[in-house]
Amino acid sequence: TVFLVSMIPTLWLLLCLAEGSGILPDGPLNGTVGGTIVFTTTLTPAESQFSSIEWKFGQKRIFFGYGTNTTAPEYEDRITLMSAGSLELRNLSLTDSGQYTVNMVTNAFLNGTTRLDVYERISGTSVTPSTNLPIEGNSVNLTCEAAGSVFSRMWMKDGSALNLSDNMNLYEQNSVLSFNTLDKRDSGEYSCRVSNPISAEVAQYTLAVNYGPENVQIKGPAEIQFGQTLTLSCSAESRPSASYKWALNGTLIEGQNSSLLTKAIRYLSDSGNYICHAVNFVTDRSSAATHRLSITEKTPGCTAGCIVGIVLACLVILGGVCGGAVNKSVCMNVCMCKELR
Ligand SMILES: *[C@@H]1O[C@H](CO)[C@@H](O)[C@H](O)[C@H]1NC(C)=O
Ligand SMILES: *[C@@H]1O[C@H](CO)[C@@H](O)[C@H](O)[C@H]1NC(C)=O
Ligand SMILES: *[C@@H]1O[C@H](CO)[C@@H](O)[C@H](O)[C@H]1NC(C)=O
Ligand SMILES: *[C@@H]1O[C@H](CO)[C@@H](O)[C@H](O)[C@H]1NC(C)=O
Ligand SMILES: *[C@@H]1O[C@H](CO)[C@@H](O)[C@H](O)[C@H]1NC(C)=O
Ligand SMILES: *[C@@H]1O[C@H](CO)[C@@H](O)[C@H](O)[C@H]1NC(C)=O
Ligand SMILES: *[C@@H]1O[C@H](CO)[C@@H](O)[C@H](O)[C@H]1NC(C)=O
Ligand SMILES: *[C@@H]1O[C@H](CO)[C@@H](O)[C@H](O)[C@H]1NC(C)=O
Repeated sequence: TVFLVSMIPTLWLLLCLAEGSGILPDGPLNGTVGGTIVFTTTLTPAESQFSSIEWKFGQKRIFFGYGTNTTAPEYEDRITLMSAGSLELRNLSLTDSGQYTVNMVTNAFLNGTTRLDVYERISGTSVTPSTNLPIEGNSVNLTCEAAGSVFSRMWMKDGSALNLSDNMNLYEQNSVLSFNTLDKRDSGEYSCRVSNPISAEVAQYTLAVNYGPENVQIKGPAEIQFGQTLTLSCSAESRPSASYKWALNGTLIEGQNSSLLTKAIRYLSDSGNYICHAVNFVTDRSSAATHRLSITEKTPGCTAGCIVGIVLACLVILGGVCGGAVNKSVCMNVCMCKELR
């Protein structure tokens, strides 16, 4: 037996009629750590009535069958020869990756070669931002990490393939998606798909770029009459929502801190430039808009004749009190018709 065994390689060399038939399919085969793989020959059972069979991993013989079956000691319990010369290998580890060769003697000399790649399952995939406060204009990195045999990483945005724009780069084998200067349009749901031939996992991150305030606008009347209530509404594009302050002619109006300003119009000095200041406390930026309000002289329910009447009445009253040495405007203030021109 020993003689015959040692003769086999020599026979292959001598008998050049032996055809090089690849009896294993083109690889690679993909195995999972702890899993099982079968190297299946392309032979039918009838074709595979062999007198000897040899399986090698690289240069190392791991199984030999010639009358008796011999398994290399470290492969005991992990190898089973199947029908047609196929080989089952169990409890795979990363170090099982490599080239496998079968040599078989039937009525011809058959051999085959294939490759096995063993991968660890992908697990614990995550996307981590370099800052929890992404602000427009700043830079941010999204880092995609995973455990296992990482084979490839692919980024998606809002469910479709990510198109890298000018402000984006990929680094470190696609694991870092880097934004040089964030744009508010970069906001969205980013997902990183990590995969290898035996498993895949997806992790997501919602990027909400803080920006603004911008495009501040005031809506409301340009003219108003005495006694009416002024309502101005201010809007701004901002994330997070802006806070608001109001000013009249540059002086802050106390107690008005919402986007809506309401104010009873009583004095001529209530006219002028209303300014809305929108403030974003996250971006630490602010922006303003101005709205000009003029007051029409007519007070509702009081015609020109009526005003003349009031003025005359005042003059009479004050004329009596002050001996006529009063001017018209003092009179009107007293009469609650302040600053009527
Ligand atoms: C397979 O057989 C052919 C022909 O006998 C030979 O040229 C080739 O080197 C063999 N391959 C292996 C991996 O033994
Ligand atoms: C193993 O994975 C590689 C790479 O993805 C692929 O080309 C090959 O077809 C896979 N093999 C099998 C048997 O599926
Ligand atoms: C060798 O293994 C094959 C396949 O498992 C089996 O059919 C055969 O009986 C075994 N030979 C011996 C001598 O144990
Ligand atoms: C599988 O192989 C590992 C080492 O690679 C070993 O620790 C473990 O005990 C084996 N498991 C079985 C079921 O043989
Ligand atoms: C982003 O990653 C790149 C490449 O790893 C690095 O050079 C850069 O400093 C990182 N930027 C931030 C904001 O972390
Ligand atoms: C990327 O471009 C393709 C083709 O123009 C488009 O279908 C896809 O929606 C784009 N992806 C994103 C995230 O905009
Ligand atoms: C706005 O003013 C109201 C009442 O004056 C006060 O309760 C509230 O806390 C203020 N909000 C802000 C954001 O300053
Ligand atoms: C604001 O300015 C207008 C003129 O632009 C003036 O008529 C008005 O009295 C001013 N009001 C205040 C409170 O300064």
